[in-house]
Parts: sequence; C-alpha cells; structure tokens
Amino acid sequence: MVETLASSTDSIDTWADFVRSIEAELDSHRDRAFVAAPEEAFAAAAAVRKPWSKARVIEWLSFQTYYEYQAILFISKWLQSTPETDALVLLCQQIEDEANHFNWLNQHLEQLGARLSDWQPLPEIVDWVETFYGSLPDTIARLAAHNLAGESGACRSFDSIVPFLPEDLQKTMRRIMPDEHFHLKLGRRILSKYCITDKQKAQARHYALRVAELETRAIRAFNSKLAAMEA
Ligand SMILES: [Fe+2]
Ligand SMILES: [Fe+2]
Repeated sequence: MVETLASSTDSIDTWADFVRSIEAELDSHRDRAFVAAPEEAFAAAAAVRKPWSKARVIEWLSFQTYYEYQAILFISKWLQSTPETDALVLLCQQIEDEANHFNWLNQHLEQLGARLSDWQPLPEIVDWVETFYGSLPDTIARLAAHNLAGESGACRSFDSIVPFLPEDLQKTMRRIMPDEHFHLKLGRRILSKYCITDKQKAQARHYALRVAELETRAIRAFNSKLAAMEA
C-alpha cells in the first residue's frame, strides 16, 4: 500500500526541528525585506495605494497566473524522477491544485481584458521559476526549494497582497490560500521523513535559502517594473 500523509500515523502538523530552523532563517530574510528593504517585498512598497490600480492588478495577476502554470509544468516533470511513492502521490495532488489555481486566475485575467500569452516574465523571474525550480535534482532539493521556501513565500505575500485586490479576486485568493498552506505542510512533512543525514539536512537548507536569494532579485526587478509603469 502506498503510504500517504493522510494514512501516516504522524500528523501532518508535526515536523522536524531542522525544518523549523530553515523556516526561521527564511522568515528573518523576509522580515528584513518587509521592514528594511520594501523594494524586495511584493506589497510593502504599495502599502499606501489601496486598492491597487487596474494596471498593477493585471501585472501581479499575470505573474501569479504564470507562476501557477509553470508550477504545473515543473512539478509534472519532477514526477519522472520521484522514487519516494508517498511524495509522488502528494505531488500529483499538488498538480491538480495548481491547475485549479491557474484556471481560476486565468479567468480573472481574461475578465480584466488581459491575456497571459501577451505577458512576458522578467529574466529574474524566469531564472527563479523556470530555470531553478525546473532543474532541481531530487525530492529533497525540490521540496526544500519549492514547497518549503517557495510556498511559504507565497503564503506570506498573499497575506500582504490580498487586501489591495478587487473583491472578486480576493475571494478567489482566499480559496487558493489553504491549498498553498497544504503544499507547505507536505514539504515540511516529506523533508522531515527523508532528510536523515546531516548532509541531506544541509542540502535542504542550501536549496531553500537559494530560493530566498532568487525571490529577492525577482521581486526587486518586478517592483522596479511596476514603479516605472505607474510613474
Ligand atoms: Fe498554487
Ligand atoms: Fe502551491
């Protein structure tokens, strides 16, 4: 029988100390961005603009719709080399979630008169989302980078962004957020199970913190684009 998180005797809310310490490092990196370097945080620079302009909503929504679409692509690619069957099953469930998110957000984008095919991601975003996530070597690297670091960043940025969005999009984001929390939790759980040696724990930390660097570069570039667009 394939073991899943649901059938595991351990709770999904239980995870290892080394995973908590990686998350604490990520949190302090992001705290610094929100407080000391707002150009590195998705919503902090826009805190005085409420609600966001239509152009800003379209730009952010294009990025988020692109991200959900790319998540379907890179996670499905990972399945070809995931020998851990419980992780495989969970990643299949995650692809379904990301596909729903893509579909819902794409509908909002089209209602706003925009099309994802007309939007070009910045090179810093491609480096982070397509190149880095698309080339991670194994389950530990992938779950540390995307599910632990990437999804915790998404949860945090959604919390800060949602109040600035139009009401109907806020409703969709509130539907998406529990799924992203679940993806974070499955990352914590799988890493707790498969990172046994110090070398594996160090590998997980390395890939998670690399995301913080790539994310910072991408968000800074994205905020510069928004600022230029609204100037
Ligand atoms: Fe998603
Ligand atoms: Fe997700």
